[in-house]
Amino acid sequence: KPYYTNTKPTKNLNSNTILVNKYNYLTKDYIPNDLEEINTTYARSGMQLVKEAKEAFESLAEAAKKEQMTIIAMSSYRSYDYQVELYNKYVQTDGKEAADTYSARAGYSEHQTGLAVDVYNNDLPYTSFEQTEEFNWMQKNAYKYGFILRFPKDKTNLTGYQYESWHYRYVGKKVAKEIYKNNLTLEEYYVKK
Ligand code: DAL
Ligand code: ZN
Repeated sequence: KPYYTNTKPTKNLNSNTILVNKYNYLTKDYIPNDLEEINTTYARSGMQLVKEAKEAFESLAEAAKKEQMTIIAMSSYRSYDYQVELYNKYVQTDGKEAADTYSARAGYSEHQTGLAVDVYNNDLPYTSFEQTEEFNWMQKNAYKYGFILRFPKDKTNLTGYQYESWHYRYVGKKVAKEIYKNNLTLEEYYVKK
């Protein structure tokens, strides 16, 4: 179906496997439970995730650090109102059609779940994350901490978004492992289940 048609409020609120995409949305008033700020050793200041995801992210970034890698959260939980601003800014700059390929409309961003995080290596801009050794490390290790690469290169028709090497989604270790080992998207995981 065309994107943003047959849309419905998403289920499984406050669960690690909540599905938010161009068909399943969060209402304007949805704020996840248990938001906590990520330690600024591993994040820009003021970056929040749901407690379980926050702890997992800190473990991941710490493990990376032990191997001389720098993984920094530069965007994580975003409120509905903040996503309104962000999306409108992109529409003004690039036009709606282009903006829709890389930015979610408000309510349709999984950043509002408090389970998604954009990272960079504190050196190259996040849009070049794919070229870093930190990216290679994430490819090998992110799932061990419960994170998946949410918008892979070869699955843009399924996720509805262009490839984002920097955007990771916490789903919990068990689900992340299944998604990783079977090369799935969260959308495909839902169909399978
Ligand atoms: N860039 C991702 C798709 C978002 O806006 O949530
Ligand atoms: Zn993101």
